[in-house]
Amino acid sequence: MSFELQRKELMATQNFISGAWQNAQSGATFPVNNPATGVPVAQVPNSDETEAKAAVEAAAQAFVTWRATPAKQRATIIKRWNDLIMANAEDLGKIISSEQGKPLAEAIGEIAYAASYVEWFAEEATRANGDIIPAPVRGRKMSAYKEPVGIVAAITPWNFPAAMIARKIAPALAAGCTVVCKPAAETPLTALALVKLAEEAGVPAGVLNIVITASSKVVADVWLEDARVRKITFTGSTPVGKHLAHESSRTLKKLALELGGNAPFIVFDDADLEAAVEGLMVAKFRNGGQTCVCPNRIYVQSKVYGTFLEKLTARVAALVVGPASDPASQIGPMINAKAIAKIEEHVSDAVKRGARVLTGGQRLFTDQRAESTYYAPTVLADVDRSSQCLHEETFGPIAPITPFDTEEQVIEMANDSPFGLASYFYTNDMRRVHRVVDALECGIVGVNEGALAAEAAPFGGVKDSGYGREGSVHGLDEYMHIKYVCQGGLD
Ligand code: SIN
Repeated sequence: MSFELQRKELMATQNFISGAWQNAQSGATFPVNNPATGVPVAQVPNSDETEAKAAVEAAAQAFVTWRATPAKQRATIIKRWNDLIMANAEDLGKIISSEQGKPLAEAIGEIAYAASYVEWFAEEATRANGDIIPAPVRGRKMSAYKEPVGIVAAITPWNFPAAMIARKIAPALAAGCTVVCKPAAETPLTALALVKLAEEAGVPAGVLNIVITASSKVVADVWLEDARVRKITFTGSTPVGKHLAHESSRTLKKLALELGGNAPFIVFDDADLEAAVEGLMVAKFRNGGQTCVCPNRIYVQSKVYGTFLEKLTARVAALVVGPASDPASQIGPMINAKAIAKIEEHVSDAVKRGARVLTGGQRLFTDQRAESTYYAPTVLADVDRSSQCLHEETFGPIAPITPFDTEEQVIEMANDSPFGLASYFYTNDMRRVHRVVDALECGIVGVNEGALAAEAAPFGGVKDSGYGREGSVHGLDEYMHIKYVCQGGLD
């Protein structure tokens, strides 16, 4: 590993099941590679059905006592977890950078972002209030309680290896659920380090179990089949989300699916162009463009099109691409060869359909490594509507820009997508703000703002971007069901 940790024990490389760190029973392992170099940073268990089942057994046993633990006590443990995450932010950031590639400052920023969810849900744990319902007849008392749904299976992605774990596991624990978790095979080390700190914070044995595997389907299939698993929370691709929804229907599990996005970013001609460029830089190039809420289709009104392109190109051309360890780096490597191949395919398809490359448009550092996973931040102008990059998430540092003439036309273009996660628009016309917010088909809207996510806000999409919300008061309800109690004979 290229980074030295202050606490070396945070580099955990085993499963954590029923309070014990353990290898896969089969002894199988697989490497976790640094995406910048392709060099393995650790060897982790390639778990199978045996570990998937053991995790559910542990979670089922622990549920009995965890659900009965007073909310304030659960909150204290989760708050301690938050404090430990913040106290070890630098080490955790280094672990993220080693396996995911994002620049260290950004990785440490992700830790603070992750911790904000843990802290939020520690506080929300004590506020899972129910209702007292005025009875429609005499002699009755009616109420509604919130109860934990049961065992939660959390399946998390590689792009935010800490934040996605935090915003799924913290509310589950706060609600009184127990958890079985499978992080992405690309980035299990961050998840394991977080679990290590959860153990240190006093999360009891069996309440949080983590199973590492490169055979996701094998583990997920066990959890899908087991009726004791009452909820699946997943962030990842739409095809996998649909598969989980389909397969979990046999046991009617509750689902939260945070799936693909294909966010439009609209700049109207009355917008503050400096602010719009700034907002686009933040939203588009965060995590090298490997973010579900990244703008993937940028529409700029004709009157300001040329000026906007000029300002944006200057900013994008100045971005520094490099390894996570270099403090100057703003964009790291892409996660793997498949990711970079998709970016190349999208750029060449757009160019074939008439797009102009204003900056970028190629891999970097191929002289140092033929399979380099670094891609130059790119601006594509005059991108035709039929281009692949406007229909599928590129998940890379590519800003494809298309001009438009009228508000009506751009709303039609923005909504012409099966996805509906985030949308952004810039305007200074207050009437337009309300019209456009109402018209956009999505779960999250940024109005004159490029940085949207926050622990207090509901994050999630509509249409093929999935359902369920993470963060906010709604994020806790996702892990609870309502029990209605009607007591009669009181008159
Ligand atoms: C994601 O890309 O799935 C999450 C992005 C965010 O939390 O802002």
